[in-house]
Amino acid sequence: EEHVENMKRQLANLFYASLRAAFPNEPNDIEPLVAASTTKFGDYQCNNALGLFTKFKRNVTHYVNVHAVGQDIMINLPPSEMIESCSIGGPGFVNVKLSNDWIAKSIQKMLVDGIETWAPRLPVKRVVVDFSSPNIAKEMHVGNLRSTIIGDSIARMLAFSNVEVLRHNHVGDWGTQFGMLIEYLFEKFLNVEDVNETAISDLQAFYKSKKRFDTDVAFKERAQKAVVRLQGGESKYRQAWTQICEISRKEFDKIYECLGVHLEEMGESFYNPYIPKKDGGYNYASTDLAALWYHLNEEKADWIIYVTDVGQQQHFDMVFSAAKHAGWLPDDDGTYPKASHVGFGLVLGEDGKRFRTRSSEVVRLVDLLDEAKVRMLEEAKEKQEQRLKDGIIAIHWTEEELEQIAEIVGYAAVKYTDLKNNRLTNYTFSFKQMLNHKGNTAVALLYAYARICSIIEKSDQNIQELKTTGSLVLDHVDERTLGLHLMRFSEVVEEACSNLLPSMLCDYFHNLSEYFTKFYLNCQVSGSAEETSRLLLCEATVTVMRKCFHLLGIVPRDKI
Ligand code: ARG
Repeated sequence: EEHVENMKRQLANLFYASLRAAFPNEPNDIEPLVAASTTKFGDYQCNNALGLFTKFKRNVTHYVNVHAVGQDIMINLPPSEMIESCSIGGPGFVNVKLSNDWIAKSIQKMLVDGIETWAPRLPVKRVVVDFSSPNIAKEMHVGNLRSTIIGDSIARMLAFSNVEVLRHNHVGDWGTQFGMLIEYLFEKFLNVEDVNETAISDLQAFYKSKKRFDTDVAFKERAQKAVVRLQGGESKYRQAWTQICEISRKEFDKIYECLGVHLEEMGESFYNPYIPKKDGGYNYASTDLAALWYHLNEEKADWIIYVTDVGQQQHFDMVFSAAKHAGWLPDDDGTYPKASHVGFGLVLGEDGKRFRTRSSEVVRLVDLLDEAKVRMLEEAKEKQEQRLKDGIIAIHWTEEELEQIAEIVGYAAVKYTDLKNNRLTNYTFSFKQMLNHKGNTAVALLYAYARICSIIEKSDQNIQELKTTGSLVLDHVDERTLGLHLMRFSEVVEEACSNLLPSMLCDYFHNLSEYFTKFYLNCQVSGSAEETSRLLLCEATVTVMRKCFHLLGIVPRDKI
């Protein structure tokens, strides 16, 4: 199905034509400045007049004021069915009110052709998203959680925008720490083949303490030699290293499976052959430079995106500027190929300090996801029992279904909390807040979605047929507000992609559900004269919501 330009770009095209016609003597094309309206006089506005008037004033001009410039822009607009009316605002900007009919028709067309026709178009072909990237022999913690969740959402938004996305897991699988890990492994297991699952927690504990390394001189020496022998490719050492990585990998994969996140492992060791071997050192920065070279030249990526905590900002600044010096990247960040660091803040405990367990350990990701699920399950069970007692007729869920729902909602709550906050700010982790049924939470959105699904289902109308036989009208103000917001979806995803800010999509999503609530409160659907049209509006809302969930890595349920 054909691609539909977003509203902003469609308007920009119209204003481009009008600017050409109004100012034919301007030597260069004037770029139209179109933005969502900041006043109640329109839906969008064109802001070119002020800048042009200032420019004209320097020469002799027949324009008496900025208003007159705006006027000229307005009257030269080509006729379009998308525009209902225009007016001139204060400093000469042109207000545009979009036509209700056009909005309604566009939404209905999307219902028939599919929401993919609303996918943004980006100026890139292939993107590397380097995210999650935990370290071998360490357990994943909340920091890795943020990278995994934010990176996954960015990758999903880019893929929806028809970009080819390479999802790289740059795991820390190389470096001097492997010396002591390997020696420790040799001590504990006579045969490398005997290494088992529990070995990893032993290794973690061992790695964390580092005590042995600091106090036992003989051990330290052996560990240092082990690094050399590993890097020299000695098979016994390679084998041990492979085993250690394999055990960690299994642990990581469990988490990725829970979260429904897919990654391609391209760890630090992968880039060894690409590092010039002057002093035999493979440090973090030289590995990243080699990796960047590989992304640009072997993978032919035109945008490389790194998702880590803000603490690594400086490291990436250095890597990027080295790449610019080397001529691998253009100096101008506005052109491609381009590298971007997506930093994020800390997760804080309710005491305002770095999020830790009571025993001041880092919080394990598995425990966190588990707890969200357990809490949801308890609540769902209690509610079900209460309903039974009160004789309220509702779906009776089996134990298994309750588990499923609790898992979906619990995990969604964790993900959404991570995504809705502007990633650069620290945020406080609170189960109570994230599992709230009201407010800007995944729980509220999942319930809203299920409610709309049930409105459609209960209507007993064939919604698929209605898409072509029915007709959508947006006469009521709350219908129009909802409709206009639906139409903004494409613009918002595009902006969220170019700013690498999934929180922009969350804001949009939350507002969407608020506008729906308002519409549903003030506009009767079932049994009204407008039933057909309003059901179509419900269906359009559900369609956009489903895509929002998808882009945030959440799988909604029709019934909950
Ligand atoms: N392993 C690193 C850490 O846990 C993150 C790696 C990020 N990616 C990269 N290409 N440096 O901090």
